[in-house]
Amino acid sequence: MQGTAFRFFATATVFVVFGMAWGIHMSATGDHLHAPAHAHLNLLGWVTMALFGVYYHLVPSAGTSRLALIHYAVATLGVLLITPGIVMAIDGTGEALAKAGSVLSILSMLIFLWTVISTRSKTA
Ligand code: HEM
Ligand code: HEM
Repeated sequence: MQGTAFRFFATATVFVVFGMAWGIHMSATGDHLHAPAHAHLNLLGWVTMALFGVYYHLVPSAGTSRLALIHYAVATLGVLLITPGIVMAIDGTGEALAKAGSVLSILSMLIFLWTVISTRSKTA
């Protein structure tokens, strides 16, 4: 597996290990208050990032550009901000982190949209 694809998969797997541990903790304590934060850690951090990794594995040339590195950084930072951001929003202690994480998350998807369109002729 090539650099960018591996980077996305490895990071996604780290996120889901934390996400699952959090889910088990919620189940064990019966406290589901922060379930939406757990949900988005898994959905943006695991599902979305792993899907990005699948594309970069299918189209290795897409992963060699500088944009691919920026895409990885933006997507990862998005998850790292939105997850505590949702916790804070639920707790009523501020929404700035959730907003910043949301903007980075949609930005990462727009970068991906551009990547898919611009590398369409290179797909298997
Ligand atoms: C060890 C694995 C996991 C455990 C023990 C776990 C546990 C939980 C618990 C206890 C809740 C709260 C349910 C509620 O209050 O209704 C929840 C919600 C949720 N989890 Fe997980 N989870 C796990 C993995 C995952 C994964 C891998 C994903 C996504 C790929 C995921 C997605 C969600 C979603 C979307 C919700 C919100 C559902 C709703 O709207 O209530 N979870 N999880
Ligand atoms: C910029 C990125 C995103 C933002 C800002 C966002 C925001 C939200 C918000 C505000 C809710 C309602 C939460 C509540 O009522 O407690 C929600 C629910 C949900 N979202 Fe997202 N979302 C994003 C990305 C995604 C993605 C990529 C997926 C799936 C791959 C997803 C799946 C879900 C699901 C399954 C729920 C219902 C479960 C829950 O209540 O936690 N979201 N989202």
